[in-house]
Amino acid sequence: MRSEHLSDVRIQELQQDSCYDEPTFKRSNAGFENGNQLFMFFPEQYKVKLLRGKNVLDLGCHCGGPGVYYAHMGADKVFGLDIVYRRVNEGRKFSLSKNAKNAFFIQGDAEAIPFVNESFDFITARDFFEHVDSPEKALQESYRVLKKGGLMILVFPPFYHPWGYHITSITRFPWLHVFFSPSEIIDVCREISLEHFGSVRFVPPLPIINKGKKRFAHVNGITIKRFKKIINSSSFSIRYYRLVPLLSSSLFLRDNPNKLQLLRKFKPFFDCLPSIPAIKEFFTAKVVYILEKPE
Ligand SMILES: C[S@@+](CC[C@H](N)C(=O)[O-])C[C@H]1O[C@@H](n2cnc3c(N)ncnc32)[C@H](O)[C@@H]1O
Repeated sequence: MRSEHLSDVRIQELQQDSCYDEPTFKRSNAGFENGNQLFMFFPEQYKVKLLRGKNVLDLGCHCGGPGVYYAHMGADKVFGLDIVYRRVNEGRKFSLSKNAKNAFFIQGDAEAIPFVNESFDFITARDFFEHVDSPEKALQESYRVLKKGGLMILVFPPFYHPWGYHITSITRFPWLHVFFSPSEIIDVCREISLEHFGSVRFVPPLPIINKGKKRFAHVNGITIKRFKKIINSSSFSIRYYRLVPLLSSSLFLRDNPNKLQLLRKFKPFFDCLPSIPAIKEFFTAKVVYILEKPE
């Protein structure tokens, strides 16, 4: 399925899926192994057990790992939705390999969700809202397909996160996107990738023009402020909201074990940065919301 507002070039880019061209079973399994990560930022009453017996939609399901994990954790049915067919297909194979008969994977656009109104008790969206072209439409659609009293649980890194430009396969230099244009960054990453891997397959697609301005094609530039505005103008009510400080992200600590001791010393300092309005966009690891569709 495709929606009319996506250009052919964008669809081609998404389908080529050039930035994540690695064995996908590995990716599915990694998503399964860390399936609990979506819930690690929430208080005790919002843990994965909430999904038990629920009909769940997983937006931007990637290669299906988290969806299969939710099915294993007792969800009644899980529907994973992703715009990239190859990922959906991997999700299907992965669910078979894990015998998750209640996990289904569907190619479709979160901006035009292919389900009727009030189909789901629960919507999950991990690291999705920084990728979808129109977070506004994805949120409106989520509201439509959620049952009254249903919850949507979402987590994503804001654009000005040190690696908010999402090219960590090539560089982990922080805040490159604050200093350089999308084209400059992509061009240099393509050169580096060609030099080291002999191809540009680890680099996201070329930037696109949006509202007369060049922007990355693989991330939409969503900030904490803009997302808050979108939520506030939606009909959702906010059950829980939190900005997770940089060093709390287990991923960061996992990727930098040798820096762990040193970094721990700075943690109290980093913990207070998301509460400072002028700089919170730069020092927040994850934006975390639980939204409810009122009864
Ligand atoms: C970073 S991945 C999500 C990771 C996954 N949720 C997890 O927890 O491991 C973002 C996903 O969103 C998908 N995506 C982007 N735009 C989309 C859209 N309009 N509709 C559905 N999926 C979309 C991408 O194809 C990609 O697989």
